[in-house]
Amino acid sequence: MGLEVVNLTAKVGDKIVLRNVSLKVDYGAVHVIMGPNGSGKSSLAYVIMGRPIYEVLEGDILLDGESIKDLPTEERALKGIFLAQQDPPQVPGVRLSSLIITFTNKKLGAKDLTRPKDPSVIKRMYEVATKLGLPREILQREVNVGFSGGEKKRSEILQAMLFDAKIVIFDEPDSGLDIDGLRIVADYIKSLRDAGKGVMLITHYARLLNYVKPDKVTVLLDGKVAATGGPELAQLVEEKGYAYLRAKIAKGGGSTGV
Ligand SMILES: Nc1ncnc2c1ncn2[C@@H]1O[C@H](COP(=O)(O)OP(=O)(O)OP(=O)(O)O)[C@@H](O)[C@H]1O
Ligand SMILES: [Mg+2]
Repeated sequence: MGLEVVNLTAKVGDKIVLRNVSLKVDYGAVHVIMGPNGSGKSSLAYVIMGRPIYEVLEGDILLDGESIKDLPTEERALKGIFLAQQDPPQVPGVRLSSLIITFTNKKLGAKDLTRPKDPSVIKRMYEVATKLGLPREILQREVNVGFSGGEKKRSEILQAMLFDAKIVIFDEPDSGLDIDGLRIVADYIKSLRDAGKGVMLITHYARLLNYVKPDKVTVLLDGKVAATGGPELAQLVEEKGYAYLRAKIAKGGGSTGV
């Protein structure tokens, strides 16, 4: 059960971004993914979501034991996987509230996608926005158009909360967030874990991990799994950096459990 990536090799354009990557995101657990810039972390998140520019060359992606590898992105989302993106794109012409209503309606199997099938969603989106420190008006604005960096991040969290996903992938939720925002994200991640959801958390810094203790840590280097472990691995990375890890692996430190 949970999300499983099995021997995944994928490319974008001519670039192989993932090489034989295997990992699991269990329910009720936080799996942290670390790795230097360009190591394939966001690519992993996109390939899991089925972003069309990525091509899976080998391997599989399983949700609760069933392959989702060939499903379109929207179906993966409807099955309960949500990605809070590192750099959420602007969606001119679509209000944040419409995006939320459309998705929740789709989930409820509504034919008319514009009127909320469950009217309580309106009340909830305003409540959650307030809780996240977002101005209420933001729901009537076009998605991410003119949002500040932190507002974009908070708006991703708002969507994650309202979509009630069972697997939530956070791609650097801490970048660009102020200290209050950081606490909000950390508390939300903990509440997801407590509620039995699976969390994949991509982050560069142990800062966030001081608030949320990970259950598992995986380090990617050049699109490959270079090391796996527990919270101590994140600490090691923070203290010694990736060059240390690279050198250790080159000396025969093995691919896991460094
Ligand atoms: N469309 C593309 N064409 C060619 N190369 C690409 C494309 N998209 C991504 N890449 C490359 O794939 C590699 C992995 O990128 P990715 O965004 O997954 O890294 P990352 O680990 O998330 O890095 P960061 O920590 O900076 O967010 C990078 O070298 C990047 O330049
Ligand atoms: Mg990235």
